[in-house]
Amino acid sequence: MTSRKPKAQSPKPDLVQLLAIETSCDETAAAVVAETGDAARPWALRSNVVASQAAIHREWGGVVPELASRQHVRDVCGVVERALDDAGIGFSDVGAVAVTQGPGLVGSLLVGVAFAKSLAWSLGVPLVPVHHLAGHIESLVLHHGELPLPAVVLVVSGGHTSLYLVREPGTYQLIGRARDDAAGEAYDKVAKLLGLGYPGGPVIDRLAKTGRDDAYDLPMPRMTHADRNAPEGTAPAGLLPPALEHRTDFSFSGLKTAVLRLVRGKTGARLSDADVADICASFQRVVVEALLDPTFEAARWLGARSIGIAGGVSANSRLRADAGARGARYGIPVFVPPLSLSTDNAAMIGAAGLRRLRAGVTADWTLNCQRQRQYSDDRPHRLPLVQHQEAPRGRPDHGRGRRHRQEERRQGRHGARLGDAHYCGRVRERLGGRAD
Ligand code: KG4
Ligand code: ZN
Repeated sequence: MTSRKPKAQSPKPDLVQLLAIETSCDETAAAVVAETGDAARPWALRSNVVASQAAIHREWGGVVPELASRQHVRDVCGVVERALDDAGIGFSDVGAVAVTQGPGLVGSLLVGVAFAKSLAWSLGVPLVPVHHLAGHIESLVLHHGELPLPAVVLVVSGGHTSLYLVREPGTYQLIGRARDDAAGEAYDKVAKLLGLGYPGGPVIDRLAKTGRDDAYDLPMPRMTHADRNAPEGTAPAGLLPPALEHRTDFSFSGLKTAVLRLVRGKTGARLSDADVADICASFQRVVVEALLDPTFEAARWLGARSIGIAGGVSANSRLRADAGARGARYGIPVFVPPLSLSTDNAAMIGAAGLRRLRAGVTADWTLNCQRQRQYSDDRPHRLPLVQHQEAPRGRPDHGRGRRHRQEERRQGRHGARLGDAHYCGRVRERLGGRAD
């Protein structure tokens, strides 16, 4: 479990301190986010606690949904208690509860939604449902303050690669999306086929630094206007010029297959460490280019005053470096979240939750989770399912366990589990405390 405790600072009494809960995939997370009263920097982070399940799912090569839900049940009470402790507040100071409603794994989402509903009801405070991708977008505002608008924001995670146009704070217009595998999913699958374990992004990122990025000529995954079977573009008609309409949609499954062929083509011989590093570097170069080209083209065409990049893959060192360099070249500021807010966390859900609370959006006690949901201002679209959950295949590979654990320690992404009786006790006491 990682926990960050920002400097304490007491808010004005009329400003809400919100408790946020995120359980959409394999991280159980809770955070306290407070309003500041400053329109340019509307929220302050009070605590940010994440219990990662990566060590559990690594044994299976990907997220196992049933194991994920059960672990959320074990961890959620302790994580919430820790978030309150780190923020230096008690349940009576919580002014609202926000929770990720979707998209995500349905069993995992249910744990957070049921918990948040019970807690909000017991405290008598508003319950705010939050879209996971809105959370990733608002992680940028939580850290940097309001972005110069209009902004083009790329959300790039394990389940999604989506491009949004943000004209007003809190409105997100979908202008591009992954047609097949998301970028993070491609990282995870390529890592798996190279025997590098789960999650794939961090380890490929690290190994790529030692490889040659021009060692292999992998195909640039790009949807073009001329694609014979190209579906209708995601951006609303007329928003982008025809040449760009399809180019804001992403496709990474072909690239993943090209890496698979490359690996299979190296018949018999075991891949050397240098080969693996070269493949990682070449793959990463192509992914980063495929993400940044359409983002910058769309931003230029739409007259954006800033670019944001959020979601787990925004932790990628090359994506950050290349985006910053391009931004400097084109004279457009590029914003990325700090690493602690790139991968899944509840702080971003808290930020989006406060945005919605002030817009008057709350839920009643019939709130249910939505594993996918339309999310655009002016035209319906389907968000792809989170796809990086894979059914366990074969037996867990214990032989790779040590390497994985070393990687985990390097990442520092998880620690002790806190789903124990002590933590759960206080929450149960509180939930049982309301007579009505
Ligand atoms: O946003 P996130 O934590 O969860 C979802 O909403 O899916 O993103 C997780 C994804 C995984 O696919 C993981 O491999 C990828 O983010 N990721 C990275 C890096 N760190 C995490 N991908 C590339 N480079 C990284 N450094
Ligand atoms: Zn995410």
